[in-house]
Amino acid sequence: MKRSEEFYEGDRDEVLSTEGRGETMQDVLGRRWNRRGVVGGGLGTGMVLTMGLTMSQQATSQEATPVAGGTPASGATPVAEAETGFQPISLDTGDQLVVAANHSAVPFLRWGDPLFPDAPEWDIDNQSAEAQEQQFGYNCDWIGFLPLPQGSDASDRGLLGINHEYTNPELMFKGYLTGNPDFDPVEAEASEDYDIPESLVNTSQRIVDTEIAAHGLSIVEVARDESGNWEVVLDSEYNRRITGMTPMEITGPAAGIEMLRTTADPDGTEVLGTLNNCAGGTTPWGTFLTGEENFQQYFANLNQLPEDDPVRVVHERFGISEEGSDRLWEEFHDRFDLAEEPNEPFRFGWVVEIDPYDAGSKPMKRTALGRVKHEGATSAIAPGGQVAFYTGDDEVFEYAYKFVTANAWDPDDRAANMDLLDDGTLYVARFDDDGTGEWIPLVHGEGELTEDNGFASQGEVLAKTRLAADAVGATKMDRPEDFETNPVTGKVYLVCTNNRGRTIMETDRANPRPNNFAGQIVEITEDDNDHAATTFAWEIFILAGDPEHSGTWYGGHSGISPLAAPDNLTFDVDGNIWISTDGMPNNLPGNDGLFVAPTEGEARGRTQQFFSTVPGAECSGPVFNTDNTALFVSVQHPGEGGTMDEPTSRWPDNESPARPSVVLITHNDPGARVGQLG
Ligand code: FEO
Ligand code: CA
Ligand code: CA
Repeated sequence: MKRSEEFYEGDRDEVLSTEGRGETMQDVLGRRWNRRGVVGGGLGTGMVLTMGLTMSQQATSQEATPVAGGTPASGATPVAEAETGFQPISLDTGDQLVVAANHSAVPFLRWGDPLFPDAPEWDIDNQSAEAQEQQFGYNCDWIGFLPLPQGSDASDRGLLGINHEYTNPELMFKGYLTGNPDFDPVEAEASEDYDIPESLVNTSQRIVDTEIAAHGLSIVEVARDESGNWEVVLDSEYNRRITGMTPMEITGPAAGIEMLRTTADPDGTEVLGTLNNCAGGTTPWGTFLTGEENFQQYFANLNQLPEDDPVRVVHERFGISEEGSDRLWEEFHDRFDLAEEPNEPFRFGWVVEIDPYDAGSKPMKRTALGRVKHEGATSAIAPGGQVAFYTGDDEVFEYAYKFVTANAWDPDDRAANMDLLDDGTLYVARFDDDGTGEWIPLVHGEGELTEDNGFASQGEVLAKTRLAADAVGATKMDRPEDFETNPVTGKVYLVCTNNRGRTIMETDRANPRPNNFAGQIVEITEDDNDHAATTFAWEIFILAGDPEHSGTWYGGHSGISPLAAPDNLTFDVDGNIWISTDGMPNNLPGNDGLFVAPTEGEARGRTQQFFSTVPGAECSGPVFNTDNTALFVSVQHPGEGGTMDEPTSRWPDNESPARPSVVLITHNDPGARVGQLG
């Protein structure tokens, strides 16, 4: 859930009811048939037919078959437990964590916790950029785990890379919403460092700079001692804070192009900081990747650009504010003001590569992977040794992408892999209604991507990735978020969180529901299981939501734990899919949580809830250590929607404000894997 996200506030049943629009399901189907001409075979028709029917109606529908494969709902045999074996929990609305029996879930790293031996303790009344640069940042999201030592498969010692997606200043700074007590306009005017806002707002240079320092990532060494307790290693040589001010190199085809040049960086090759880091990934050579998502919210004053300025249409596509931003950072840092620096937004929206084994290494913005509202960038190795990176663009009607390196990686020469991400092909996905699909290359000079059409170079294709994807006819998805490969089967899973704006006329088989408030997970099988392939097969794996109210699909099983608004994914060593949610309470009566489903066999798609967070929070970034004996997961923005004085959550310290935190989940049986029965 993001600040910019609108919530569905209408009546769910009314939205789902076809009668409410004066249409029957036959009308819907008839119009789809007319629109498309021929819809091939029976494949996929079941999903359309079940749309809007209740579970009991599905059970009597002869046509209620899944998109492809699986067992129809009417023929489902209830399975007692998912193959992971834990006892599922129920939806929960309380202000405490809930986890499956025989497990424990404890706050492990809280916003403000010191990351270095001499870092200050968190003190809400003494926040500063300097303190925050030594403490765990705000709104933890994606988590990556890489073993220590580098190259090993150690499970008891490693590095966590943790994104800090954004800040909730109303829950961080006292008085932010009611007038800022420490903003002194006289002092501000007297200081060369201080700009005075045009109007007195509830923020200040100190607050803005603290916010910027609370963004970015934390890299921390964690270790399990002999008694089985995990701890943060404060004196580790690897611990590091990366913020919205950390210098980063811009690499790849868009580095240095005109659009990326600014007053501070006339070469267009170095940028300060990374912002709105949502999901991420790891590379086979042991680096972290982090995706810059909703960067538009930090920029202001689009209306200061001339109407015919060619960059304007690109900024508009990302939703940059016509006037002031909500955060008002532009009042204190010129680079966030388009009137001053119209190109600064082009320096965000990339995938950033970080070498966590060298705390002095410079993060690299890898432009070859395109510029969108990136979710993660997860890797899979092709048979030829090239590495594919899957990345979603999280906005309604945006696209799903894959980047494939030009060269093979070298398992024996880490240094030789360090620039692999600068050379390769970016593809965008088209999902065809017959259950196949194509990865369409976004290559300058090919097809529509020519200078005549506004793409002067490959760098411009990448800086304007969304426009390039429009031009080649990719499939507009329902908010494509996480996009991950099952390490056991090689199948790839794309999470589409929701899209309430899709109309019936805009539905297709990969995005089969109008008013899609609950989301779906699409399963992709690359042709020949080759992650460098340019064609694939696909089917709907889960069509989320309340089975009592909507056309849903959980592998044909009843007795499942319903979920909505799936966001992040991970897989355990058996290939079960772990799904975290962002926006459950808008759809189902429970806090966001973590759900597990087998991906193969009789129990495929049978979803069971493992973990539940607290009010206002999303559950994000689940990641196991190497042998699955520890699971780290983020509880992001607990209490969002409330205020400091009227909190909706006081987790984890039973105090206000709540503190975003990474949670450590372990089995109570030492040595047992998370998710196993005890
Ligand atoms: Fe930051 Fe797409 O969730
Ligand atoms: Ca999200
Ligand atoms: Ca996300």
